[in-house]
Amino acid sequence: MSILVTGAAGFIGSNFVQDWFLNSDENLVSLDLLTYAGNLKNLSCLENNPNHHFVKGSIGDEKLIAHLFEKYQFRAVVNFAAESHVDRSIHQAINFIDTNIIGTYKLLEAARFYWNDLNKEFKKDFRFLHVSTDEVYGSLEKFDKPFSETSRYEPNNPYSASKASSDHLVRAWHHTYNLPTLITNCSNNYGPYQFPEKLIPLSIINALNGNSIPIYGDGQNIRDWLFVKDHCNAIRIVLNNGKIGEVYNIGGSCERTNLEVVKTLCDLLDKIKPLENGSSYADLITFVKDRSGHDKRYAINATKLEKELNWKPSETFETGIKKTVEWYLENSEWINQVINGDYRNWIQKHYE
Ligand code: NAD
Ligand code: TYD
Repeated sequence: MSILVTGAAGFIGSNFVQDWFLNSDENLVSLDLLTYAGNLKNLSCLENNPNHHFVKGSIGDEKLIAHLFEKYQFRAVVNFAAESHVDRSIHQAINFIDTNIIGTYKLLEAARFYWNDLNKEFKKDFRFLHVSTDEVYGSLEKFDKPFSETSRYEPNNPYSASKASSDHLVRAWHHTYNLPTLITNCSNNYGPYQFPEKLIPLSIINALNGNSIPIYGDGQNIRDWLFVKDHCNAIRIVLNNGKIGEVYNIGGSCERTNLEVVKTLCDLLDKIKPLENGSSYADLITFVKDRSGHDKRYAINATKLEKELNWKPSETFETGIKKTVEWYLENSEWINQVINGDYRNWIQKHYE
């Protein structure tokens, strides 16, 4: 048996694949288009693992996907592949429409055709798990209740609108065609291998390089933060035990303003790697122009996952953020490759 993981060379996908092999020796095929956000080095620790196969390609490539289904006879698909950065979606949305909406549609269709022809036993066990975000629910005011699985979809930016569209497609493929789907909607992740365009790695790397740390608007926007390994664990649990056709919210019950997050990072760096001149990294914090349509607050009610599937996060924000800062401090080579684009040359040499 084997499973297909798309977007496997990205931040969460690569953590998921690494964790998979700590828990299982089942075959796993990693599919990734290796866009700017995909980095094969994130999977380099699996280079000699005979149960891991990497394929470069797009979820929107029908022929390739059909070929992979035929060749590997997947028992499950976990779809991480997406354009994931809100600011890029505001600048230009087309790749978000192509991958997040049309790509998901193509993957669903390929899965449906394959699944239709399976024998009864395999058909019953097949799963299509779509990884989504809390951003599809829109924005909360300070005292609003956290998002639950029944909250209304109100996406506010091109990224969240494209993810909302893909969620609707997955839901429809279950209701119309009975495809055995699962959807997870998770809050903001942080941890190793996150591309340094997102708040936490960007702030750590800018601080270490002595560059300003940009905070949009007044820094009072709130996100719920979850350590990436806890998200990966939740996905494995939903894949194994989730009820077909259901949606599960995943969150860390850990709301912080952006300013609090960045100050925590600066305090940690002050302790672990104090500046020689005795100043604080927090002096680098700079308030910049706000993001257009910036969602005020995200918060997640994960009770369904906790009660029905017995999941709970193992890291608090304090333990998770310390591990994250330490990882970036220990992986300066990874940072330099990502920033310099060296890893793209490496990919060209190995795969093109
Ligand atoms: P990421 O940008 O780090 O990784 C995305 C990966 O998908 C990259 O490796 C990229 O090369 C690949 N990809 C892009 N287009 C592709 C295509 N057409 N075909 C195949 N691969 C393609 O993103 P991430 O932060 O790891 O997010 C993974 C998933 O989790 C996304 O679906 C995202 O919406 C969702 N999510 C992310 C967060 C978060 O905080 N990062 C929170 C909740 C949900
Ligand atoms: P981000 O990491 O881009 O995730 P998302 O937009 O998906 O929540 O941003 C997290 C929060 O941090 C968001 O409120 C925007 C803010 N932000 C900054 O203040 N400065 C930055 O440089 C970035 C990238 C984000």
